Amino acid sequence: MTGNSSDPDVLNYPFERPTALDPCPHYKRLRESTPVAGIQMPSGDRALLITDYDSVRTVLSDPRFSRAATTKPNAPRIGTEPQNAKNLLSMDDPEHSRVRRLVSREFTARRVAALRPLIQKYTDHLLDTMEEKGAPTDLVPALAFPLPVTVICELLGVPVDDRGKFAEWSGTVLSTVSLPTEQIVAAHVALSTYLGALIAAKRKTPGDDLLSALVSIHQEDEERLDEEELLHLGITLLIAGHETTTNQIGNGVLALLTHREQFEALRADPGRIPAAVEELLRFAPPGDEATLRIALEDVKLGDTLVPAGTAVLASLASANRDVRHFGTPDTMDVARSANQHLTFGYGAHYCIGSGLARLELQVVFDSLIRRFPTLQLAIPPEEVPRSSGRLIHGVTSLPVAW
Ligand code: HEM
Repeated sequence: MTGNSSDPDVLNYPFERPTALDPCPHYKRLRESTPVAGIQMPSGDRALLITDYDSVRTVLSDPRFSRAATTKPNAPRIGTEPQNAKNLLSMDDPEHSRVRRLVSREFTARRVAALRPLIQKYTDHLLDTMEEKGAPTDLVPALAFPLPVTVICELLGVPVDDRGKFAEWSGTVLSTVSLPTEQIVAAHVALSTYLGALIAAKRKTPGDDLLSALVSIHQEDEERLDEEELLHLGITLLIAGHETTTNQIGNGVLALLTHREQFEALRADPGRIPAAVEELLRFAPPGDEATLRIALEDVKLGDTLVPAGTAVLASLASANRDVRHFGTPDTMDVARSANQHLTFGYGAHYCIGSGLARLELQVVFDSLIRRFPTLQLAIPPEEVPRSSGRLIHGVTSLPVAW
């Protein structure tokens, strides 16, 4: 069931952003007046939306807020599609710690750092092609999309030629609010079939990629991943590994091109790129909320008692603008220090790919600004098209000139 709430105190979720970069004004109002507010989700289920920084951190890190409970039959949902309990992001402890430990053993900082030359080389190649074709160019197909997809393919050992296929499936899987449930379920099935075949191939002929490494943990170790965990881990990494980064590149470039003085500051001092990436993550994140949690017992959040069984949605985008944690939160400042944004989440489910995402973003922004110092939007900012009805936000096209 979908529908509008008839209760005037209950807001219909998700909120539309007024522009590609501005968060919905509801967030500021709620943060200041009702940081724990009733919403109705597209499924028709009710939840509490949490908008202040401290409570968002509590929801993400306190084990009394469960991810696993959202996979139970009849549990409240954002959309209508079924949730899978075998997915890392849907587990509570002790399963979550066990699977996360196994993945972390293979998805190491060293494995990520080893991808740097490939990321730089492929970025340079994409920028060369952009230059050869000449302005104007749409930066989404030219850079924001192909880079993260190629990197995640390389990490996992997925044939790059197949990327168009799974890009379509993962786009469907993430569309929660805009597509029929059957279509979303069909895309899940297609992704599972594809990954299942790939895992079987890696088992026969392992490579030096992450998926092969995870398959061999599965084969050899006492502490191991079961078949379904392995499959869903592959799917989660594949989806999580490119949609978010693609949208962060698009949002980040748009933010820099609409704040020219910040672009110029980076051009003058490329040493600021790492701090700038953190600010772009804070200011123009690809998603507004973390995944849904359910309170396992009564919990006090600020002045509000959240009763056991309540669904809770923690707003990362809102927390990132909380004036109690960030000075002038609505100002984008690439030189901002002590930037404890929550765009990668917090606590046990903190993004396992954050190191890889940061590396990609740093290489992309550094290379783009160096190569195209006169980069500018080729259309007015308000005309830049963006996605709607999805849990991940981004620009769908970003025409630029130089
Ligand atoms: C800008 C890029 C990215 C952003 C903003 C992002 C954001 C997030 C957030 C907010 C969470 C926690 C969700 C929650 O607690 O409900 C998360 C978890 C996760 N992310 Fe990312 N992510 C990004 C890139 C990546 C990449 C590149 C990968 C993989 C290569 C990845 C893999 C994952 C996985 C597997 C989890 C689940 C971790 C767990 O449950 O323990 N992400 N991400």
